[in-house]
Amino acid sequence: MDASRIYSVGDARRRAARAVPRALFDYIDGGADDEVTLQQNERAFQEVTFRPRMAGATGDPQVSTTLLGTPLSLPVLLAPCGLVRFMHPDGAPGIARAAAAAGTVSVLSTVAGSSLEEFATSSPGPKWFQLYSPGGPEQTEGLVGRAQRAGYDGLVVTLDTPALGHRERDVRHGVTQPFRFTPASASRLAAQVALRPRWVTGMVRAAVRARSGAAEPTDTSAGAAASPTARLVAMGASPFSWDDVTAIRHQWTGPLAVKGVLCADDARRAVEAGCDAVIVSNHGGRQLDGAPATLRVLPEIVDALGGTAAVVLDSGVRRGSDVVKAVAAGADAVMIGRPYLYGLATCGEAGVRRVLEILRIEMVRTLSLMGCPSVSALDRSWIELPSAI
Ligand SMILES: Cc1cc2nc3c(=O)[nH]c(=O)nc-3n(C[C@H](O)[C@H](O)[C@H](O)COP(=O)(O)O)c2cc1C
Repeated sequence: MDASRIYSVGDARRRAARAVPRALFDYIDGGADDEVTLQQNERAFQEVTFRPRMAGATGDPQVSTTLLGTPLSLPVLLAPCGLVRFMHPDGAPGIARAAAAAGTVSVLSTVAGSSLEEFATSSPGPKWFQLYSPGGPEQTEGLVGRAQRAGYDGLVVTLDTPALGHRERDVRHGVTQPFRFTPASASRLAAQVALRPRWVTGMVRAAVRARSGAAEPTDTSAGAAASPTARLVAMGASPFSWDDVTAIRHQWTGPLAVKGVLCADDARRAVEAGCDAVIVSNHGGRQLDGAPATLRVLPEIVDALGGTAAVVLDSGVRRGSDVVKAVAAGADAVMIGRPYLYGLATCGEAGVRRVLEILRIEMVRTLSLMGCPSVSALDRSWIELPSAI
């Protein structure tokens, strides 16, 4: 499909639903339990209004910035996401190339299904590695060492997965662990796959390429018998303590971020543990249903940190105007998960590029209409936060 025919993130979502089997789309799109946090994430952005200023700035507003010493052509990073190689044969390397072309950072998930060394060399752009450690401290040390040697520019430790969230859509499709394939659920899945022949062809071609050694999709495993993906899925958890974060800080010499912070106290603990950034995230509403929308807790965290660490927000960003709202509320940058996955599922690397292009165009237009010259000029005077936020 021609990626230029994607007009918005919502449009990419609709197209993704038609491109991949239903169970895979629901894995991308779904959230935990009643999906209340999933919905609240987007609603929080909709409730913020702008305070535009007329007849001020002229020319195209600047959207470039710098995060932890890395120049970004827009303040939007690609969040770590698992199992991306099943969404399109371009997989994680395609995501890295799209990020590099757009001038931003992509973050490889431990469970992306792609080797961390392969990902590190798949594009010239900056890359971070996201750490899960279902295998315990030894595996953590192994993965951190490999990320260091592979030259990653940043490390993200995900804290909000002491247990896996209950994703009811996945359960309904029979694709959560332990796999309970009944004849009925297996035939339902087979029927979904049969409806997406183009996806099947792409996956088969990728598998053949991998077998012939052209682009072997190995896991990020530190060489242990079971890969992190398999272990995470089997055990359903990657618990880290603050002591673990401190130990990782001693080993990892580059920028360090923790992901999943939702209150000021945890943000302060992250700084005490030596983190350079906190990622305000509820995992896109996929973990604790009932967790607050990230935009609602962002001001409290920004104020508590007072510039002692960078603040990145994710969960619910769907428009360039949402990026502007988050930066105005105090974030240094945002990450997106589903928006680029919808692009990937629709048409691979080109779809990811298109989603980033759309967000950039929307950001520039929003800042223009607000009369704001650049993202660096944004502060809370540009937005109206509802009293509940
Ligand atoms: C399909 C999918 C897989 C994900 N896998 C991971 C992961 O492996 N590690 C992680 O830290 N976060 C993971 N996340 C969460 C994202 O990094 C990010 O926090 C979230 O998607 C942001 O919300 P958004 O999708 O509304 O943009 C995943 C999200 C999705 C949608």
